[in-house]
Amino acid sequence: MKLRSIELGVENPAEASAFLTDIWGMAEAGEKDGRHYLRGSGPLAYLVALEAADEPFVRSVTFICSKARLSQIAEAVEKEDLAARPVVSDDLGGGEGLLVELPEGSIFRFLADTDDVEPLEDADLPVQLTHVVLNATDAEACGDAVERLLGFKVSDRTKGMVFVRCNDSHHSTAFARAGFPSLNHIAFEMEDFDAVMRGTGRLRDHGMAPAWGPGRHGPGANIFSYFIAPFGPVVEFSTAVEKVPEDYKTGAPEDWTWPEGRIDHWGLSEKDFDGLRAAEEKFRFRRDWGPASLEHLMENS
Ligand SMILES: [Fe+2]
Repeated sequence: MKLRSIELGVENPAEASAFLTDIWGMAEAGEKDGRHYLRGSGPLAYLVALEAADEPFVRSVTFICSKARLSQIAEAVEKEDLAARPVVSDDLGGGEGLLVELPEGSIFRFLADTDDVEPLEDADLPVQLTHVVLNATDAEACGDAVERLLGFKVSDRTKGMVFVRCNDSHHSTAFARAGFPSLNHIAFEMEDFDAVMRGTGRLRDHGMAPAWGPGRHGPGANIFSYFIAPFGPVVEFSTAVEKVPEDYKTGAPEDWTWPEGRIDHWGLSEKDFDGLRAAEEKFRFRRDWGPASLEHLMENS
C-alpha cells in the first residue's frame, strides 16, 4: 500500500497549476478532460490533480495497492455496511479499485494496476507525496475506522493528531483533532534536507514566508516547512520521515511533550496558527456519490 495522489477541486485550475509548477516546483504531467495533473520526480503518474469547482473540495486521496488488498478492503467495508463502490479511474495512470467513504465524508480511493511513468532527474522536484493529513471532528473514530477497514495502523497519538501508517513510513495520513472535517495539509517528500531548504528559499524569492518552519517534528521525526498556497491549501516540504518496524509501539499524547515554548525540535520559527487554521477550513469533502455493489470487485480480485 502506498499513498499516490490527492485529487482537488479548485476555483482556477490553471492558476493553481502554475503555482505548483513555477513556484512550488512540480512538473506538468498533462491535462485530461479539463483536469490538470502535476507530478514529481518519482515513477507515479501524478501527485496532484486539479479540476474546476465553484468551491474548493477534496475529490479523493488515492492509494495504490494489490488486487488482493482491494479484495480485503471490499470485504471489510461490506461487512460494516459502509459507503463504498468499485471505481475505474479516469485519471492519468488509470487503474481500477474501490472508493471508500470514511466516517466524516472524506473519500479514500484504492487502485490496483496503475501505470507508472519514467522517473525524472531533478533534485528540486518532490519525489512523491509523503502524507495527506485530514481534519476531523472525531480523529479517534477515523483512526479506528482505517485500522479496522483498511488495515492501516495508528503509529502515534498526540494532543493534536492521530498518525496512521499504511506501510513502513511512520505516517501516510493523520487525523487532526480539529473539530471539523476538511483537508489539513498535503506534504511533499523532498529528496533531502537541502531540497527542503532550497524549496523554502525558492518560495521566499516569490515573496512567500513559511507559515511554520523549517523545523523537525516529534512523531515521524520529519523535517518540515509549511506554506499556505495562493490557491488555498496548506502545503509542506518534508523529508526524512521515520521508517518504523511492524511492531512499532504506538505512542500516546503523554509520550510526545515539548520543552516550554517549543512545538518542534528546533524552535526556529513562529507558527501562523490563525493563517493555517483559515486555510485548513477551505477544502471540504463532498458526499455526492452513491454506494454500489462491491460483489463485482470481490469476484474479480
Ligand atoms: Fe505534515
